[in-house]
Amino acid sequence: MATEKNEKMEQIVSLAKRRGFIYPGSDVYGGLSGTWDFGPLGVALKRNIIGLWWKLFVEDREDMYGVDAAILMNQKVWKASGHVDTFTDPLVEDLETRQRFRADHLLKDAGFPVDGLSLDQMTQLIKDNDIKSPNGNALSEVRTFNMMFKTTVGPIDDEASISYLRPETAQGIFTNYKNVLDSFYPDLPFGLAQQGKAFRNEISPRDFIFRSREFEQMEIEYFVDPAKWEEAFEHWRQQVWKWTQALGLPDENVHELEVPEADRAHYSKRTIDFEFDFPIGKEELLGLAYRTDFDLMNIQNATGRNMDYTIKGTNTKFVPHVIEPSFGVERAIMAVLTAAYTEDEVNGETRTFLKLPEHLAPVKYAVSPLVRNKPELVAKAREVYSALKAKHGAVMWDDNGNIGKRYRRQDEIGTPHCVVVDFETLENNTVTIRERDTTEQHRVSIEELIK
Ligand code: GLY
Repeated sequence: MATEKNEKMEQIVSLAKRRGFIYPGSDVYGGLSGTWDFGPLGVALKRNIIGLWWKLFVEDREDMYGVDAAILMNQKVWKASGHVDTFTDPLVEDLETRQRFRADHLLKDAGFPVDGLSLDQMTQLIKDNDIKSPNGNALSEVRTFNMMFKTTVGPIDDEASISYLRPETAQGIFTNYKNVLDSFYPDLPFGLAQQGKAFRNEISPRDFIFRSREFEQMEIEYFVDPAKWEEAFEHWRQQVWKWTQALGLPDENVHELEVPEADRAHYSKRTIDFEFDFPIGKEELLGLAYRTDFDLMNIQNATGRNMDYTIKGTNTKFVPHVIEPSFGVERAIMAVLTAAYTEDEVNGETRTFLKLPEHLAPVKYAVSPLVRNKPELVAKAREVYSALKAKHGAVMWDDNGNIGKRYRRQDEIGTPHCVVVDFETLENNTVTIRERDTTEQHRVSIEELIK
């Protein structure tokens, strides 16, 4: 089963590279571990996912406000948020090669449950069981490693110029809570949403885009009356299911995990991890956390600025509590590709296709002339292509190879509809549409198609 799963992962990675979805970062220079570049189809898929999220959770709601904060933030943000002191992973070093590994990953791979273990307990387990590095060498004691990328801002390289590439977009929201409150004075509950890059210096990035050092988040901080946090938590639990369904992920492959206290992030009083059956196993797709007033109180204490919300028309004021649904873009992409990757048999041959939901497919229609050497057919096909493109944008011209090969190529990138202009088109202005999922073909008039 494990091999089967790894095979599926390899097939997805290979398709993603070959067909222009996702390439290893800096590939031509030998790569940069933990970074990935999105090619033409990958960026289209990514934008469709981000656009869907923005529509569902910002545009379609009356209680949400979007923000787009700077990635570089004042170092005080990360001191107050607890990230400087506690945003760490457990690290061990190969005593021969000095290569570093995640201690919890090595233990998990060796079959030990790691949830809630202290550093000392991990060190002891490694010693007692003589666990070696993947190179077969002895390992150091386990210690913590801060995952933030440190940098300096401005021309002087000193303590005061230290900044970090943000490890979560959430802090760009908390720091703008007061600004949005002053500009809009929304009714409670209300939320701020942000989508953008985040960075974590993972000790051992792995599993394709699942654990990379640069990635994108889509995060919501939803501000509530502290007495009503449970209601809001439940609301967002349901919304998360709405999201996984909108991505086309089968319900039976999505699982809720109530995270025990010892494994929760330092700011959370309750967390549900939503896990998905990836080819690498059941792993976290996104998280839903109750962050209490942890972040707003940290800001209030560190800056002296009051973070109270006053209920309109009353003197009742309090620092709101926060429910945080935190969505990873790359993990959503990996889940969508996993769910969509399909093999079936057509005319006695194995066919690979991406059964992507139409609203996520990078290309909605491919347009071809039946043959390339008939100028009048090509001209007519170009006309249809231009009209469809003006309407849908995501339309591809494809006149390479024979028609069967074109269908296979479009299947592989998940194009739901292939439109073919043939000799009958010249007579009666109808075209053939071939459907990806059923491989069935039907004729429609061009007028109907464009409509
Ligand atoms: N903001 C939560 C996280 O980045 O995991």
